[in-house]
Amino acid sequence: MGLTQAEFREAMGCFATGVTIVTVDLNGEIHGMTANAFASVSLAPLLVLVCVDRTARTHAHLHAKKRFGVNVLAENQRPISEYYARLESSQERADAEAGARFDRTAHGTPMLHGSLAYLECRLQSTQEAGDHTIFIAEVEDVVVRQGQPLLFFRGKYREIGEEVTGTQ
Ligand SMILES: Cc1cc2nc3c(=O)[nH]c(=O)nc-3n(C[C@H](O)[C@H](O)[C@H](O)COP(=O)(O)O)c2cc1C
Repeated sequence: MGLTQAEFREAMGCFATGVTIVTVDLNGEIHGMTANAFASVSLAPLLVLVCVDRTARTHAHLHAKKRFGVNVLAENQRPISEYYARLESSQERADAEAGARFDRTAHGTPMLHGSLAYLECRLQSTQEAGDHTIFIAEVEDVVVRQGQPLLFFRGKYREIGEEVTGTQ
């Protein structure tokens, strides 16, 4: 069919998503990565997945730690998404540059202040898939807050619109 990566990306960009920061504790240091390839997988047990590029630093960190957090961003957290999508993002400047501050969960996993939801994840299995790896994890705990989400659609950040109501 001769489908190009650009055409694939354009089609996938039509699938509007939320935005998350995947967080890992590295012996006291906080590592974060912006990810929207995140999905619910199973209710029994409670499973989610996140797809991570094999070249991302986070890829090695998830394999090593086998525990991570998924922080669902609120609409005012775009700078945090941009910060953790950068190649050279580091914890030292996260607060000053993007306003990213963290608490620690009982497991020591970094939990981002102000996110809409937090999921505490324990790695269950991995599946190699082309240039990414699918990390499937059991969700051990969640925190949910009020607020509106940050969205990603056609390569741009968006805010949510009005609820669709009424009859057909
Ligand atoms: C909105 C958005 C969504 C992204 N989603 C993913 C994703 O699901 N998986 C992934 O591997 N990279 C994703 N990225 C790219 C990573 O955030 C980026 O490559 C980052 O620099 C990797 O960080 P690390 O090397 O510190 O792990 C996304 C970037 C943006 C802006």
